[in-house]
Amino acid sequence: MEATKPPVRIGLIGFGCVGQGFYDIVQRQPGLGLAVTRIAVKNADKPRILPSERFSFRADELLDDPELDLLVEVIDDPIEAFRLVSTALRLGRRVVTANKAMVARHLPELVQLQQHFGGALLYEAAVCGSIPIIRTLDSYFGHEPLQAVSGIFNGSSNYVLTRMSEEGSDYNEALAEAQARGFAETDPSLDMGAFDARSKAVILAAHAFGVFLNPDEVLNLGIEGIGAADVAYAARLGQKIKLVAGLYQLPSGRLTVLVTPQLVGSASPLFEVGHEFNGVLIDAAFAGPQFLRGRGAGGHPTGSAVLADVLALQRGFRYGYAKRQPGTELQLTKGLEGDF
Ligand code: HSE
Repeated sequence: MEATKPPVRIGLIGFGCVGQGFYDIVQRQPGLGLAVTRIAVKNADKPRILPSERFSFRADELLDDPELDLLVEVIDDPIEAFRLVSTALRLGRRVVTANKAMVARHLPELVQLQQHFGGALLYEAAVCGSIPIIRTLDSYFGHEPLQAVSGIFNGSSNYVLTRMSEEGSDYNEALAEAQARGFAETDPSLDMGAFDARSKAVILAAHAFGVFLNPDEVLNLGIEGIGAADVAYAARLGQKIKLVAGLYQLPSGRLTVLVTPQLVGSASPLFEVGHEFNGVLIDAAFAGPQFLRGRGAGGHPTGSAVLADVLALQRGFRYGYAKRQPGTELQLTKGLEGDF
C-alpha cells in the first residue's frame, strides 16, 4: 500500500480578512495536502470563527517552530510584518507575505536576506490581489523588454469611483461600503491617497524594470478631492475618472513611475474595470500589449494568491527580478508636469 504523504504544515500569522480567506480556501480543498497547523494573532479578546485553543498570541513562536514547513504572514502592520518576515528569512525559512507596504519599503534588504540565508519569500498577493502579475512579469525576465506597465492597482478607490460614477453614491458612503466589504486598509487614507497603489507600483518596478525605488520618491496623488461634479464632467466627455498607476519607459530610456487620478476613455480596457476589480496593461516589445483583469481585494481573491505562492514555494519557485535595461534613467521627481 502506498504511504500517504504528510501534509505541508503552514504557520499562519494574522487572521484578518486575507488570513481567513486563505484558511477557508485551504480547508475546502483537503486534496491539496496543506494543513494550517498554527495560527498567530495579536488580540486575544477578539471574537473569532475558530476556538481560542487554535490560536497562539506570540507570532515569534512560529518563526523557528521546526514543526512548520513554511510561514504565511498576513498582518496589517508593515513595521511588525518586516520584523517577523526578516527574522524568519534570517532563519532560512520559506515565507509568503501579502504586505505590500512592507515589501515596497524593504525589497532590496528582503532580496539580500534570501540570498544570504537561503530562505525564500514570495508576495504575489501584495500586488493586485488575484491577478498573477508578478509571476507574469517574471516570465518576461531576460527576453522581453517592457515599455510600460500601468493600470488600476487599488480596489477600494476604484470601488468608490465606480459607485460615484455609476450609482451616484456619495464619496463617504461608498468608502464606508468598501470598508465594510473588507477591501479597504485599516487606515483607508492609504487607499484613497494612492499610497497603497504606490507601494504596488514600486514592487512592479523591480519585477518589470529591475529598479528598486524608494516609495517616498514616487509621485502619488489620491482621489480624496474628487466630487460628484468631477465625475459628472468626466461622464459628459464620455470618460471615467480612474486612479491609474503607471510605470513608463520613455523612448529616451527614462523610466517614470507615478500614481494619479486620470480621465480614461472607452478605448482603454481600464474603462470597464469597475468596483473592486484591478486591471493591468503591459506593453511588451515583442509580445505587444496585454491586459489582465481580476479582483484586486477581498479575502478569497487575495487568499487565492497567497495559496498560489504557497504551492509555488513547494515547487521550488523563486522570483528572478528583471535586469535593469541598459540606459534606463530614473525620473522620479514629484511634479513631473510637462514630461508627458
Ligand atoms: N486595500 C487594498 C485595495 C487591498 O483596496 O486594493 C488589496 O491590496
